[in-house]
Amino acid sequence: MAETAKTAVLQEETRIFNTPQWIIEYSNSYQWMKKKGFKTEKEMREWCSQNYLDFWDEMAQTYADWFKPYTQILEWNPPYAKWFLGGKCNVAYNAVDRHAKSWRRNKVAYYFVGEPVGDTKTITYYQLYQAVNKMANGLKSLGVKKGDRVSIYLPMIPELPITMLACAKIGAIHSVVFSGFSAGGLQSRVTDAEAKVVVTSDGFYRRGKPLPLKPNVDEAVQNAPSVEKVVVVKRAGLDVPMKEGRDIWYHDLIKDQPAECYTEELDPEDRLFILYTSGTTGKPKGIEHAHGGFCVGPAYTTAWALDVHEEDVYWCTADCGWITGHSYVVYGPLCLGATSILYEGAPDYPDIGRWWSIIEEYGVSVFYTAPTAIRMFMKAGDQWPKKYNLKSIRILASVGEPLNPEAYVWFRNNIGGGQAPIIDTWWQTETGCHVIAPLPMTPEKPGSVAFPLPGFNTDIYDEDGNSVPLGYGGNIVQKTPWPSMLRAFFRDPERYMKEYWQMYWDVKPGTYLAGDKATRDKDGYWWIQGRIDDVLKVAGHRISNAEVESAAVSHPAVAEAAVIGKPDEVKGEVIVAFIILKEGVQESEDLKKDIAKHVRSVLGPVAYPEIVYFVKDVPKTRSGKIMRRVIKAKALGKPVGDISALANPESVENIPLIV
Ligand code: WTA
Repeated sequence: MAETAKTAVLQEETRIFNTPQWIIEYSNSYQWMKKKGFKTEKEMREWCSQNYLDFWDEMAQTYADWFKPYTQILEWNPPYAKWFLGGKCNVAYNAVDRHAKSWRRNKVAYYFVGEPVGDTKTITYYQLYQAVNKMANGLKSLGVKKGDRVSIYLPMIPELPITMLACAKIGAIHSVVFSGFSAGGLQSRVTDAEAKVVVTSDGFYRRGKPLPLKPNVDEAVQNAPSVEKVVVVKRAGLDVPMKEGRDIWYHDLIKDQPAECYTEELDPEDRLFILYTSGTTGKPKGIEHAHGGFCVGPAYTTAWALDVHEEDVYWCTADCGWITGHSYVVYGPLCLGATSILYEGAPDYPDIGRWWSIIEEYGVSVFYTAPTAIRMFMKAGDQWPKKYNLKSIRILASVGEPLNPEAYVWFRNNIGGGQAPIIDTWWQTETGCHVIAPLPMTPEKPGSVAFPLPGFNTDIYDEDGNSVPLGYGGNIVQKTPWPSMLRAFFRDPERYMKEYWQMYWDVKPGTYLAGDKATRDKDGYWWIQGRIDDVLKVAGHRISNAEVESAAVSHPAVAEAAVIGKPDEVKGEVIVAFIILKEGVQESEDLKKDIAKHVRSVLGPVAYPEIVYFVKDVPKTRSGKIMRRVIKAKALGKPVGDISALANPESVENIPLIV
């Protein structure tokens, strides 16, 4: 406790990087600031946050069209918010319909780049409109209605955003499951959501090879009684068994569907999607997001933080299986009518210059990626980006984990021509859009996410709910609601309350606890320090320790498992599993491999434990809770602190040093 109560800033980064004046003056946020007559960035940020209702109202008017205007901006009954009451809207209308009927009808929405070199497709807003309508009609023909859940388990191909938008259009709720999860991960998410339909593909391309995907669905759906239909996109030309009466090819489903489809006029609080994310228990939590908020938050931040303009070619490398794909591959850029790249494959196929070749070929001007990718490229060497003309780049951006100063400088110099700012965006599945980030006009400190964005009242609290002074750290909190905030956990109001709102309920009800620690330096710059709970960040992907543990325990030889993250130069963290074997089972290297493989088969490659150790016991509290913090400290050679409260303090000695 004392540790977070007032963590002093120990190491200070003193370098400041300024953005060239032309990039600042061109930026959307700077132009707004000038129009409003604010003298400084600080003044603007403060005004917008103090007057957050007026600010969000203006953003809602600027970036969204409403079928019926709202009459009330916010109704806040903590912990439940309703935004834009009395209005009617649909994010699919804002993302697609209105552009297809405007001068943007022939503008490119997506340049799709498949992994096989040369496999590309250009999709205009009008073409997107037709494709979405056909799929929306297709879903309707399968009996999907407003409020029904559709699970989407697809690689990064156009059918993924198209299916998301088709659901939105008819008021169905999409639940995208990352295609890097395997049958077990998919099954728990499909079952919890009680999805009626699953949309998948035969397979996808990864490093030149077609890999199967559909078999995972067959396995997952066996134990998911809610699923009535499985729709299969033909992508990789693989031979997959189709179950009579249940499975239907995507191309057959849409073949005779009309290219017009009514867009539901929805209440802004009607749910747009559920996205499962990792929390502290083994059961993933279904974060619910609403149409109204998603018409506003992603578009505003795509325009302000990422500074996407009408004439940009924008590329966010995230997969739609994660929130970044939802907000910044689909809803944000499409609501702005922007042109984006949609890339299917690996960053290093056929070689590690692939991304740079795409930037050169399409003239990408705004590029948004993750620290793990940047570090991988940095390791591969400067010679790769040097082969390509990257002069089109104006803005770089990063998300998912802290961007270390070394990677910041490399990215800026080698990809950003030494001048592009790096918009390091802190946010979460729960927040729906960026919360803390520099704007193009912000002088940057490498490794810092700068300041809370206009419209947010973000703060750092100590354990008692006091805002900590500059120079200290604590828990990131939100003091006021924002439009694209999470609305609930799917069918689990207790956990929603407990995980996000309970912490400061007695002192300051309505305070959202983000679950991250941060510090502010003497200039007020924010530095993210990581999670306060047991959530791993592996290559930027959010994985729950408990979910990996429960997958390990499902191996027949395993009695108990404790999982921690070990710092890794490229991936941020790698997964380390401490395994207690069942009585009588012989330890062996083969068994370690088998357990790691088993976890991979249950949860998918994304959750693969790179290191497995056998131990006799793991430290636990008297109530039986595994003390991962103690395990981690011991394994990494750090002080373990007071362990007298443990039920089995002697077990700490068993934990090997792994560094
Ligand atoms: C972490 C991803 C440092 C943080 C958008 C947060 C970051 C979690 C940053 C959410 C950043 C995200 N710097 N850490 N710029 N952005 N995080 O839900 O721990 O997959 O709580 O959303 O990622 O992960 P999620």
